Amino acid sequence: MARVISIGDEGEAVAAIAAAIAVLGAHRPVAIPTETVYGLAADATDPAAITSIYETKGRPRFNPLICHMADLAMAERHAVFDPISRKLAQTFWPGPLTLVLPLSDTSDIHALATAGLDSVGIRVPVGFTGNLIRGYGKPLAAPSANSSGLVSPTTAAHVDADLGGRIDLVVDGGPCTVGVESTIVKVEDGRIRLLRPGGIAVEAIEAAIGLAVERPKTTGTAAIEAPGMMASHYAPRAGVRLNATEVFPDEALLAFGGAPISGMETAKLVLNLSPNSDLAEAATHLFAYLKQADATGVAGIAVMPIPDKGLGEAINDRLVRAAAPRGAEGAEA
Ligand code: TXA
Ligand code: MG
Repeated sequence: MARVISIGDEGEAVAAIAAAIAVLGAHRPVAIPTETVYGLAADATDPAAITSIYETKGRPRFNPLICHMADLAMAERHAVFDPISRKLAQTFWPGPLTLVLPLSDTSDIHALATAGLDSVGIRVPVGFTGNLIRGYGKPLAAPSANSSGLVSPTTAAHVDADLGGRIDLVVDGGPCTVGVESTIVKVEDGRIRLLRPGGIAVEAIEAAIGLAVERPKTTGTAAIEAPGMMASHYAPRAGVRLNATEVFPDEALLAFGGAPISGMETAKLVLNLSPNSDLAEAATHLFAYLKQADATGVAGIAVMPIPDKGLGEAINDRLVRAAAPRGAEGAEA
């Protein structure tokens, strides 16, 4: 079983960094807290360790991993920055923004981490993981710390329940403060393209840079450029029904906002993502509530409409995947 170390105070954080470095040095992955979701991290230059990430998650190997860096200076050693990407990094790092950039000739990131692409997804996380990378001195490749296709973990307990039997160490940094994965963008020919909505709102990027962010023209797997953006993902066992205006007695409800809907009194469970209609609060609860609703054994999970702006774009993206028909093609991160 995995050892779980909490980092409630500075002494514990120092001990956790030492323990994590020992696991990384043994070519093994370690579960780490980030502001978005918990990650399953391994040395991005170490093929044995990266292989272990894919095996632990059951993740398809054509799906590249995000490489986490301590700071922009470290990132500049591994990728080629255009001026817009550099401005994005300066504005939003550390934070939930991943930039897809050309890999530099001098980078020793292993091809298994990038799935052989000539680009690399990079982000600088907030808090413990940034300090761990500084201590370790090398980038960490880290997908979300869950079995491929399942809902991403936002607490150490989620990680332990899913992967605890397969990994050595979980660092417990408390519940994730953002709750959905990073926003992924790629700058090409002076244009910013959105590859995955996430913890930084598109509107915030547009306001900071003064450029429109281009969304993919169509949805669905055909137009998807981040290779892991499969239609079915984040799949609970229960069916997920979106934009619900009523809830049935055999369903759990994920509510949003203060207005009641019909059937609430007879639903199996009602969890409110944000009674005050605060999208950032809703994002922090999304994955935990999906798991909690699923754990009751209900046939279905009804979800009230969520506004498709700000962090609502990422929430709706994840919900659409959670509700998608499950197929063999459906597994991702
Ligand atoms: O917030 C996050 O981003 C979390 C935490 C742990 O940092 N990580 C995460 O990783 O969500 P993962 O593996 O679940 O998702 C990574 C996404 C995938 O959709 C993958 O295809 C895309 O990033 N990606 C990675 N490298 C890429 C590249 N070079 N080009 C395009 N997409 C890339
Ligand atoms: Mg994932």
